Amino acid sequence: MDKIVIEGGRKLKGEVTVSGAKNSTLPIMAASLLTDEESIIENVPNLKDITTMVKLLHSLGAKASYENGTLTVKPGKNLKPVAPYKLVSTMRASVCVLGPLLAREGYAEVSLPGGCVIGARPIDLHLKGLGALGADIEIQHGYIVAKVKRQLRGNDIFLGGNFGSSVLATANVMMAAMLASGKTYIQNAACEPEVVDLAQFLKKMGAKIQGEGSPQIEIEGVKHLRGARHSIIPDRIETGTYMVAAAVTGGDVLIKKTAPEHQNALMDRLAQSGVRIERGKDTIRVRRNGRLRAVDVTTLPYPGFPTDLQAQMMALMAITPGISVITEKIYPDRFIHVAELNRMGSRIFLEGNSAIVHGVKRLSGAPVTASDLRASAALVLAGLVAEGQTEVHRVYHLDRGYEKIEDKLSRLGARIWRAKE
Ligand code: EPZ
Repeated sequence: MDKIVIEGGRKLKGEVTVSGAKNSTLPIMAASLLTDEESIIENVPNLKDITTMVKLLHSLGAKASYENGTLTVKPGKNLKPVAPYKLVSTMRASVCVLGPLLAREGYAEVSLPGGCVIGARPIDLHLKGLGALGADIEIQHGYIVAKVKRQLRGNDIFLGGNFGSSVLATANVMMAAMLASGKTYIQNAACEPEVVDLAQFLKKMGAKIQGEGSPQIEIEGVKHLRGARHSIIPDRIETGTYMVAAAVTGGDVLIKKTAPEHQNALMDRLAQSGVRIERGKDTIRVRRNGRLRAVDVTTLPYPGFPTDLQAQMMALMAITPGISVITEKIYPDRFIHVAELNRMGSRIFLEGNSAIVHGVKRLSGAPVTASDLRASAALVLAGLVAEGQTEVHRVYHLDRGYEKIEDKLSRLGARIWRAKE
């Protein structure tokens, strides 16, 4: 396996272009199963998770190929509606094939995803929503076995859980409702831009959807969907990661081909902490030459501060004078990066689902490991400002979600490279 090596201390300067959103692409790939016709998906990032989803589509009997950012999917007439443990256990998002398979085939067997390093991650809301549409669901030998007697029926479904709305449960129920009879209302739907992007793709396929991006989505079932061509929205978490990278190094970075309107919560926190932000139509310039100020951060469903940027923000607060409190309200145990950051000299204490961050003057490079994608990104950011050399191990996790991270950061002036373990 590879590792990423970073020599800290360089200010990032220049321009970086954002890739398409991983978390938009994965459900859209699943949605392409709702027709037997070919769909073309553009601006798809070249990432390990996308390759895993391509493998899953193949194992379901669909044709799928990826070349230069474009994915072509042709499900054909005969699907084999079984998502095996081997694939679902490497990528939880595989669970979003459940809705489309059920809608098209009236039957699906999908391995239960199980635990995850960022928390328990149950799927009760997915099952509740699909059950309300008329699916008969059982758990057998570690698999969700879902059947529909005749056809799924539209319903009024409340999809809120103890931690608020769910992105992939909303996606799953939306996709299942596409070919159901009558109208479906999803209450407490997730408002994330990835849900809106999925709705845009489904509309191009011929779906009738209203209210995406708000907590109530209305779907009128249709008899047939067709293949569609769609370009994926920019990745807001990759964008945010480069914004924090500019801030943490005291640099000046122009982030291109992004969607500034998806970044309000992060822009607010960065501006409060003394970072200068200029937003253009599809660009964000992030600059810092003064001292940072400590800010408190609480993660919330969109449009609140994203949990997927919590670890990166913590790397910034780790070198910010004063005390900041970072509270995690989506995944209360998503703090795997704390112990690793502390190995680099930060002073962070956990108190329930909050991290109390006492800013330190400097971090010192160290070998570090994290088994979560965003935690690994936070360690890279810490490595950019740490004195000496940082080695981030198990790069596999970064490769799941960041396209060419070491190339993009090198072009901004960082000393960062990939090496064999
Ligand atoms: C999506 O996961 C993202 N993944 C995650 O990104 C992201 O962290 C998460 O949304 C929150 O924004 C993809 O889009 C592929 P949720 P998802 O269901 O949809 C609870 C990354 O790093 N919940 O919105 O699985 C859940 O435990 C990843 O790219 C239930 O209780 O997350 C959590 O507390 C990691 N029951 C909250 O809801 C359910 O049935 C929100 O989770 C489902 C979720």
